[in-house]
Amino acid sequence: MVGESAVNPECAIAALRVYRDDFPVLAKRMNGKRLAFLDSAASAQKPLAVIEAMGDALRQNYANIHRGQYRFSQELTASYEAVRGKVAGFINAASEKEIVFTANATDSINLVAQSWGRRFLQEGDEIILSEMEHHANIVPWQLLQSAIGFTIKTIPVLPEGTLDMQAYASLLSEKTRLVSVVHISNALGTINPVADIIKTAKSYNPAIRVLIDGSQSAVHLPVDVQDLGCDFFVMTAHKLYSTTGVGVLYGRYDVLEAMPPYRGGGDMIERVSFAGTTYKEPPFRFEAGTPPIIGVIGLGAAIDYMGMIDADMMVAHEREMTCRLTSALKDLGGIEIYADLPEKAGIVSFNMQGAHSSDIGSILDQCGVAVRTGHHCCMPLMEKLGVGSTVRASFALYTVKEDIDQCIEGLKKAKELLL
Ligand code: ALA
Repeated sequence: MVGESAVNPECAIAALRVYRDDFPVLAKRMNGKRLAFLDSAASAQKPLAVIEAMGDALRQNYANIHRGQYRFSQELTASYEAVRGKVAGFINAASEKEIVFTANATDSINLVAQSWGRRFLQEGDEIILSEMEHHANIVPWQLLQSAIGFTIKTIPVLPEGTLDMQAYASLLSEKTRLVSVVHISNALGTINPVADIIKTAKSYNPAIRVLIDGSQSAVHLPVDVQDLGCDFFVMTAHKLYSTTGVGVLYGRYDVLEAMPPYRGGGDMIERVSFAGTTYKEPPFRFEAGTPPIIGVIGLGAAIDYMGMIDADMMVAHEREMTCRLTSALKDLGGIEIYADLPEKAGIVSFNMQGAHSSDIGSILDQCGVAVRTGHHCCMPLMEKLGVGSTVRASFALYTVKEDIDQCIEGLKKAKELLL
């Protein structure tokens, strides 16, 4: 993240470099070139500790969980449930009972929409999103809106790539039931003032529920859900150095307790009969069927791994990578940077004037540089910025200066070829 820090950037870069060898994929070549992996916002690479933890569970004592009397099942159940506690600690939830395992952040938001939303939203109500949202925090609400008929209001994005907080305050009304916003924009790297957003909503009306999409923030910033005072916080394991197929929904316990099940099936029930079925307490009420056991084990290992790394060093390192790419892009010239802010997370979004982002992406690929190009699942934001797409470079704890330099060399080549 860009911003003030007491940590010397060169020390942070040196301190983080030692972890790079933990990520086997980074030693691979792509198109015959050294790999510069700058697409961690889409999905982060995995350290050996995570790969081994998942492999060990499959090799040593694999069994289904919550269902077996035998030792392997009991052991793996204990390991799986221990991860709930690790996640609670990671985001400072008050209790592990507030941690629901889902399939990804999208699934977590769909759970809130279909469970909390169906029960508590009515025709005539209002919910507030922002123009900066990922489609995952727009479409689930639109699907519900077509069934219920509430109004969706949006916090405008200002030209510099931040949320218009004055406009936000004016959107709140006695009909507002929910505010659901992204913590760090996946497309821009903007860090939204979610503490203020929550405080403003709760001061207006404590009954307003607030959901924070932490898909990007959980990996870039320390998160404290109690300090924030949000009702829901969602995140996804695959951006957090673990694997796909696992997401997290944090819900304050009293809020979860008032919510009906979202999906039905095995393991979420107390008793089933054709006369009527009763459900377990949260979080189990929301986890129907065999869960992503091995993925959850991987998430636990990823949290342990991140726990070994000094958080200030990690933040300073990502800030330095962001500053380094931003200033090199400015030196290159002919580049438009979106949300060129003094404080942002490890994401830089830009376009080269006169070139299409997908052509830039293809040339960078040939140079061994992995970036994402396109609308980044944020079409309303792109519309607001007046562009169809951008090139996005995103960083992680394993990003090194050479990755940035390689990206700039690739962009010089693209300039020669395309302009
Ligand atoms: N949401 C992911 C991204 O920003 C996939 O690339």
